[in-house]
Amino acid sequence: MPEPSYIPETLAGVPRSAWPGHIAIIMDGNGRWAEACGLPRIEGHREGAVNVPRITQEASRLGLVQLTLFAFSSENWRRPPHEIAFLMELYREYVVRERPTIMDNRIRFTTIGRRDGIPAHVLAEADRTTEMSAGNRGTVLCLAVNYGSRREIADAARRLAERAARGEIDPAAITEATLASHLDTAGMPDPDLLIRTAGEMRLSNFLLWQLSYAELWVTEKRWPDFREADLHQAMRDFAGRERRFGGLPAESEGA
Ligand code: FPP
Repeated sequence: MPEPSYIPETLAGVPRSAWPGHIAIIMDGNGRWAEACGLPRIEGHREGAVNVPRITQEASRLGLVQLTLFAFSSENWRRPPHEIAFLMELYREYVVRERPTIMDNRIRFTTIGRRDGIPAHVLAEADRTTEMSAGNRGTVLCLAVNYGSRREIADAARRLAERAARGEIDPAAITEATLASHLDTAGMPDPDLLIRTAGEMRLSNFLLWQLSYAELWVTEKRWPDFREADLHQAMRDFAGRERRFGGLPAESEGA
């Protein structure tokens, strides 16, 4: 686990061992933020994109193992073409502009989701940032772009079936770990905490397999208004939760 470079006031008294290692965020509410300001929806995305490096830097300063952000879902293709084009351009600008910060903070940038549909010049810049930061050993920043969890699981099932048909794998030997190793997130820890902004109480096809035992934390704040202190509050609340993973509370074990 990367070392924190500071402990914020808002996390004072919360032992580091109780912090989440991997936080995933559904960055919702850009459109509503813009509407509330009397601006076009895309201005909400622009402001949302400004917030991505702010929260990523904080995750890095806190020494989190991983931050996974839902930037574009496989369902977002249903949005108007100009909004999709704007989001793709924000993504391209982000992976170019943030390279120095990513490198200075030893962040390892990576992505999950399907490549098809994403413009080639955007993929090329994202790949460059991925390759450049591949040797970094600080916080992992994973952007979910053109990502949908059911499709990811179906893709993994298909790959397993193909391997079984070729005789490379015995169907009887397929375990949870085998399936997990065929997901986009292979090799990554599961998120400990899922944060969703803008108040909706749903998973929206995000990391359905990986979030099985995550703690959920929802705030009414819209993504452009989500700040470091909100991240700390979510972490503090997480530390107060009792995670049982289907077992019994620690004090009643063996009773
Ligand atoms: C949800 O807001 C947000 C998205 C669909 C995309 C998230 C994108 C960003 C935060 C900016 C771009 C990201 C990067 C990495 C540069 P919404 O439009 O669904 O909001 P609404 O529910 O209020 O309409």
